[in-house]
Order: sequence, then C-alpha cells, then structure tokens
Amino acid sequence: MDVTVGKILFNEEQIRKKAKEVGKMITEDYKGESVYLVGTLRGALLWMADIMKEIDLDMEVDFIEASSYQGTDTTGVVTIKKDVAGDVTGKNVLIIEDIVDTGTTLFKLLDYFKGKGAKSVEICSMLNKPSRRRAPVSPKYNGFEIDDLFVIGYGLDYNQKFRNLPFVGVAELR
Ligand code: IMP
Ligand code: MG
Repeated sequence: MDVTVGKILFNEEQIRKKAKEVGKMITEDYKGESVYLVGTLRGALLWMADIMKEIDLDMEVDFIEASSYQGTDTTGVVTIKKDVAGDVTGKNVLIIEDIVDTGTTLFKLLDYFKGKGAKSVEICSMLNKPSRRRAPVSPKYNGFEIDDLFVIGYGLDYNQKFRNLPFVGVAELR
C-alpha cells in the first residue's frame, strides 16, 4: 500500500504556539514543584522538544518505549520495550505522548508509574482522538483534538516513515 500526505492539519507554527500555551499551564499547575518528563518513543520526540522549552520548572527528562497490540481481549496487550533510565519514586511524572488513540498504551503506563511510586502521573499529548477511546484515559494536557483520521508527521509515523515532516497531515492510503 502506498501512502501520501493529504490535508495538512497543523503546521509547525501552530504546534509551537500550542506548546507555548500548554507549557504555560503546566508551569502554573506545578508551581514550586519539580516535574519528571517521560517522552514516549518514538512519536513524541518533536512535541517533547517543543513542550520542554516552554515549561519553566525544575525538571528531569527521560524516555520510555511501549508497544501495544490488540490481542483477543479488548484491552490489548502492552509491553515495555525500553524502560525509563531514572527512578520515578516520589516524582511528578508527566508523560509526553504524541497521540492518544484507544488509550490502551497510556492506561497501562499510568498504572505502571503509579506502581513505581510516582507522586503523581499526568499526560500531556499533542493530539487526541476521543472518538476512538476504549480505555478510560483522559489526558490533562492536550494540544489538538482530531477526528478518527490516521495522521502522520511531526513525530508520527506510518510504518516508521514520515516522522520528519514538519507538520501533522492526514495519511492517504491507496
Ligand atoms: P493507543 O494505545 O491506541 O492510544 O495508541 C497510541 C499509539 O498508537 C500512539 O502513541 C501512536 O504511536 C499510535 N497511533 C495512534 N493513532 C495514530 C495515527 O493517527 N498516526 C500515527 N500513529 C498513531
Ligand atoms: Mg506512540
């Protein structure tokens, strides 16, 4: 199957502007505290880079790689392929995600970090597809809400390609 870029939904300027707004909210909400940013590999790379510059707080930065696939059960199976490097005990974990789709991955990650003794765990996602939700996950910080479309660019891939596009666009499959 061939994939091309269709409609551009958000360009770099719009995303950077949004990161500024969201970063400001985070800065206010966690005033006087430290945050422990955990970017989800590999899709959140560019959003993570934008958002961390806009958060004016004491912070540490880490990454995790999880993969989810739908098994026969409805919740899907999530495996951690690369764990965080640091200790999150007592930390305010803020998961930086590219997109929340069914919510399966984040549902597992929220539980995972709570289990590791984090003081708090919240989600900051660039994109949100609420119509696709299957697990009860609602990101506290959201960039943009989109319809049930498959999107690529700005970190998001189709078969590992297109992550480098400096915008989020709709993938056209043909
Ligand atoms: P969830 O567990 O279903 O919420 O899956 C979330 C993950 O699926 C995201 O972190 C992305 O890696 C991937 N994903 C979901 N929707 C899209 C999309 O439209 N484009 C590219 N990747 C997507
Ligand atoms: Mg992802």
